[in-house]
Amino acid sequence: MASSRVISMRSLSTRIGHMIIIITRVFYWMLMTERPLSREEADFPLAYGLVVYKNIMQVLHMLSAFYQPQNLYCIAMDGHANETFKTLMRNVGGCFSNIHIIEIPRIGWGEYGIVTAVWSCLKYAAASQNQWKYYQYLSGVDVPLKTNLEMVRIFKALNGSMNMEFIEFQPGRLNGRKVAKYLRFLNGTSIPDEALWATLGGNPKVLPYRGSIPSSDFLGLKRAAAEAHQRLLREAENSSEKAHIRGEFYPTASFDTPNRYYVSRPELVAHKLYIDYEPATFFCLLKEHQKRTYLPRPFNASRYSELPQVEYLRGVPLDKLTHPYFIN
Ligand SMILES: *[C@@H]1O[C@H](CO)[C@@H](O)[C@H](O)[C@H]1NC(C)=O
Ligand SMILES: *[C@@H]1O[C@H](CO)[C@@H](O)[C@H](O)[C@H]1NC(C)=O
Ligand SMILES: *[C@@H]1O[C@H](CO)[C@@H](O)[C@H](O)[C@H]1NC(C)=O
Ligand SMILES: *[C@@H]1O[C@H](CO)[C@@H](O)[C@H](O)[C@H]1NC(C)=O
Ligand SMILES: *[C@@H]1O[C@H](CO)[C@@H](O)[C@H](O)[C@H]1NC(C)=O
Repeated sequence: MASSRVISMRSLSTRIGHMIIIITRVFYWMLMTERPLSREEADFPLAYGLVVYKNIMQVLHMLSAFYQPQNLYCIAMDGHANETFKTLMRNVGGCFSNIHIIEIPRIGWGEYGIVTAVWSCLKYAAASQNQWKYYQYLSGVDVPLKTNLEMVRIFKALNGSMNMEFIEFQPGRLNGRKVAKYLRFLNGTSIPDEALWATLGGNPKVLPYRGSIPSSDFLGLKRAAAEAHQRLLREAENSSEKAHIRGEFYPTASFDTPNRYYVSRPELVAHKLYIDYEPATFFCLLKEHQKRTYLPRPFNASRYSELPQVEYLRGVPLDKLTHPYFIN
């Protein structure tokens, strides 16, 4: 009896000890940035929506990298999260007025519940007093490849356009009245959160959101890009260029990916980088991110305004785009 009580007391104190370490770490990172790091960032706050449920260490490290005091964070916490996770996330939400925690029922990967979660955060952000300029949708396993300042410049260059992937959809299924019906339709489809974004951003006639583009116009372009890509591949069949043209990238799920690969990418965020699977890459990227956050390098984002959706919104016709094949 006595010994079992000793053991459980000890494991309790270990657990509390762990919690204190984690919380102290988060505070340490976040309190370093009580004020916006620059005027430019203060004037251009960003909003984030996240859906998380496990690996608290990863989520807190990730949050501490993305965190800036002028930004808005809405974190939807899935019902799969255990009590320790929930307690810690609630504490984080209680400490920061710009971090809002929403608790949602259990959802599975690719299930409909995720749409409810995404939507709740979007509604929260839309109703917030924060005058955020761009919204990023993240998961719990993302690492920023760009600093907040670099992202601000990139978003300015994107000039109100949405940045997302479009795929062909069955238009015949979507002929009724709008969003409620669409959301009902998504209930039962695969990975509905991705379909939701593409639909909201790709149908300006039905859903006239700012920055949305008629994605059907882009689908032809996407097919042409795929064909051009195949053609290049055929022409380069026996050359060393092949891997490059194919756009091969390192198998991130199997080993620690060379850091320099990520550092030179134009993307804002690396998705599905796991702290317990690729710890070296994960921490090297955070370190690089932190270094650039506090010692900003010159960063000119003007090339991002050459992206097809940005030019198209600005009125450039499809056949005059600078990089027609940069479509995703
Ligand atoms: C609960 O989640 C935390 C953080 O993700 C993890 O460290 C811990 O092992 C989990 N506890 C149980 C009982 O599964
Ligand atoms: C940004 O958008 C506005 C209005 O759509 C347009 O007039 C302007 O040329 C755009 N600027 C860039 C750099 O795309
Ligand atoms: C989604 O569909 C399932 C099964 O048809 C149903 O039980 C559930 O209530 C639906 N969820 C929503 C939010 O409409
Ligand atoms: C590539 O090499 C194979 C085998 O050596 C050859 O049959 C083929 O014609 C080559 N392709 C091109 C495009 O040169
Ligand atoms: C960024 O680069 C573009 C094109 O090279 C140039 O026209 C522009 O002046 C640069 N902007 C800044 C702020 O340096």
